Amino acid sequence: MGKVTILGVFVADTAYRADRMPRMGETIMGNSFSLGPGGKGSNQAVACARIGAQTHMISKLGQDDFAKLALDTWAEAGVVAHVDQVSESYTGAAYIFIEESTGDNAIIIAPGAAALIRVADIEAKADLIAGSDVFVTQLEQPMDAALRALQIARQGGVTTILNPAPAAALPDGMLALCDYVTPNETECEALTGIAVESEADARRAAQALCDLGVKTPIITMGERGAYLHGHGLVPAVRAGAVVETTGAGDAFNGGFAAVLSEGKSALEAVRIGCATAGISVTRAGTAPAMPSRAEVEALLGA
Ligand code: RIB
Ligand code: NA
Repeated sequence: MGKVTILGVFVADTAYRADRMPRMGETIMGNSFSLGPGGKGSNQAVACARIGAQTHMISKLGQDDFAKLALDTWAEAGVVAHVDQVSESYTGAAYIFIEESTGDNAIIIAPGAAALIRVADIEAKADLIAGSDVFVTQLEQPMDAALRALQIARQGGVTTILNPAPAAALPDGMLALCDYVTPNETECEALTGIAVESEADARRAAQALCDLGVKTPIITMGERGAYLHGHGLVPAVRAGAVVETTGAGDAFNGGFAAVLSEGKSALEAVRIGCATAGISVTRAGTAPAMPSRAEVEALLGA
């Protein structure tokens, strides 16, 4: 069993389904509401633990009911929490609008307490980070905290994964600290200026990421699968009718990190990541949709 440390954000996902988006100033009737655990880092940690890694989560929460939802979610998944609960802010929340006819979504994130993660908080966790097999982060918490954590991980010889989501401009030198970077098509275009519509585009974009210092870029391409630099497109795995795609990228990253931490090849880790995502989209919610290793292996016929 490998050890994976994840720096990231928990938010309570508040998901509304309606036939269409309201226009500004308008109120419309929705079809349903649900509340569940979300946030990219937390979703990735839940997936990573379910796929079988010893998973550690670094984050910040408030002292409210949503913090309890975070702690319960991690306890149930077997994620070890390294979090401060602060009084100055609330636990993060996300507004998720899902358009019923297409399944497409639009999201607003308010990270709350997680926006207060500081470089000093990261330095206080240096031993945990440097003692991991794999370190993972995203871009929902402050950039300087993510950068410092990647530096500590790299210095400690830890395999580093940056999921550059949501899309943002990166500080100089950040990509050169990354063994793996896992953008989707949109995030990839934000980083490279290359629109990714085909496998050939993905190959060019991956080379551009290598030129920026990434060792092995992986571009996730939704229902097509994931492009692994040096290999090519690893096809997506279909596991049934699609119910909700929110969190599919997190499923991929969590599954990928878990398998990589076992010392397996990037190709094997990408295959498991794709299957983890493939199952997650057949279920409602984000963290609650993450499959177990046994479910993933059954799907792959392993
Ligand atoms: O990647 C999906 C996640 O992004 C959701 O859980 C939502 O909280 C946003 O952070
Ligand atoms: Na889902």
